[in-house]
Amino acid sequence: MRIKDWYRENKKHFNSSELNFIFKSFGIDSLVFLSRGGNHLLDKKQAEKLDKIKADRLKGVPLALSLEREEFFGFTFKVNKDTLIPRPETELLTEAAKALISKNSLKKILDLCCGCGNIGISLDKLITAELNIYLTDLSSKSLALARENAVDLGSKVKIVNSDLLSGFKEDSFDLIITNPPYVESEKIKDSLAYEPKLALDGGKEGLNLIEKIIVQAYRYLEDRGFLIMEFGYGQKKRVENIIYKNGQYIIKTWIKDYSNIWRGVILQKNNA
Ligand SMILES: C[S@@+](CC[C@H](N)C(=O)[O-])C[C@H]1O[C@@H](n2cnc3c(N)ncnc32)[C@H](O)[C@@H]1O
Repeated sequence: MRIKDWYRENKKHFNSSELNFIFKSFGIDSLVFLSRGGNHLLDKKQAEKLDKIKADRLKGVPLALSLEREEFFGFTFKVNKDTLIPRPETELLTEAAKALISKNSLKKILDLCCGCGNIGISLDKLITAELNIYLTDLSSKSLALARENAVDLGSKVKIVNSDLLSGFKEDSFDLIITNPPYVESEKIKDSLAYEPKLALDGGKEGLNLIEKIIVQAYRYLEDRGFLIMEFGYGQKKRVENIIYKNGQYIIKTWIKDYSNIWRGVILQKNNA
C-alpha cells in the first residue's frame, strides 16, 4: 500500500497535527511526503501499525498511547499505559519554573510525581546552567520509563522512588515542581480510563494529594524555596483555602492554561 492511499482513506479520523505526528513517528517528514506525492510504499509492518492506530482511534484510545510517544516542549517522550500522557498545560508550569530558576539562580530542583519525567528532563535540557535535578514517583513502572527517557534525551537527572517526599531529607530543595493526581475519582472515565488511576485519582474532591503536598513540601524546601503546583479546573479557590489554612507560604503567582483557566500556582516558603 502507498502511504497516500492510507492517508486518503483515513485522514478524516485525525486532525492535521495528529497526522504529522503519526508520520513523524514513522520517520516520514510530512512535507517531503506531500511534495513527493505520497508514493512511499508501506511495508507490511508499517501498514499493520497504521491500521492499529486507526482501530485505536475508533475505540477512543489516546493517540499518544497508540504511538507510545508524546511531544513535550519539543522533546519526544516515551509513554505507555503505566504513566500519564504529558499535557500541553503542564508546559506552562514548566515554562514558569524555567523563568524562576534562571531569575533566582535555583540549583536543587525536585520534579515530584514525575511520571515519564517530562517536567524535570525538559528543565534539565532547557537550562544551560549546572542544575541538580531529582525526579520522584511512587510508581516504579513510571520511574523505569523516566529512566529510559532520560537516557534517550541525554539527561543526567537523578531518579528516586518515594511516596511523595518521604524518601528525601528535609531542607533539601530550592524548588519543588509537581503535577500531582488531582482528578475527582468519579470523573475518571472515557479516555481518562486508559491512563493509570494512580496518576489521576485525587480522591472525592481531587485534592487529597494536593493538600498533602502543601502540608509537607515546606519542610523539604530551603529557606525562601519555591513550590510550583498544577491543579484542576475549578479547584483554585479550594487550593487557596488549603494554602491559607497551612500558613507556611506566600502566594507569588497564579498560572492560567491555554484556555485562560487557573491551573497552577507558584508559592514561596515563608520564613517570617
Ligand atoms: C498527574 S501524573 C503527572 C505525571 C507527569 N509529571 C506529567 O506532568 O505528565 C501524577 C503522578 O503522580 C504519581 N503519584 C501518585 N501518587 C503518588 C505518591 N503518593 N507519591 C509519589 N508519586 C505519586 C503517579 O504515579 C503519576 O506518575
